[in-house]
Amino acid sequence: MIPYGPVRPVTHEKWKSLVIRSTPKFRSLVLGLAAATLMPAMAWAQGATISYTEAQADRGEDAYAEHCEVCHGSTLSGSAETPPLVGTGFRNRFATGSPLALFSYAATAMPQQAPGSLTPETYADITAYLFSRNRIPAGDAELPFDLDVLGAATLPAQITP
Ligand code: HEC
Repeated sequence: MIPYGPVRPVTHEKWKSLVIRSTPKFRSLVLGLAAATLMPAMAWAQGATISYTEAQADRGEDAYAEHCEVCHGSTLSGSAETPPLVGTGFRNRFATGSPLALFSYAATAMPQQAPGSLTPETYADITAYLFSRNRIPAGDAELPFDLDVLGAATLPAQITP
């Protein structure tokens, strides 16, 4: 029997241990996330394999175009000053293991000129889009933005080209 249970609220200590950079805007995002997880939410299996839906990645593509493309490019290949968000190096860092690494990096450090300025939902949508461009297959359920769930979850294996 898979241990389903209520989504646990995110403690500030736990989040701080995950944070790569911290800004005032980002701290307000944390409070928003903590409030969101206190609300009754869909229960997820801790440690389950989770992915994202195609519809979510489509929303993420639009948000990427609005907030990220100016620096990372329409093909996600970056530029002289900006790293690519596709390719082997990126996938080895962010498209394997837990989905939390990419979500938390994007949500805490990006967009570079305004870190933490988007909603948690939008960060999850953009994260889904980046997974869709990095060989992670779509599934039946949306990628959540609950930090405990993301931290405990595992991404499905990358699709072999
Ligand atoms: C103003 C330009 C700019 C914008 C806009 C921007 N980024 Fe970045 N991004 C960068 C730079 C520069 C880096 C390199 C690390 C650093 O200096 O912070 C980076 C690094 C990253 C990385 C880490 C890549 C790696 O391989 O280490 C990710 C992931 C990322 N950005 C995602 C995003 C997302 C998602 C958005 C939109 C929400 C976004 N970025 C918007 C400039 C930008």
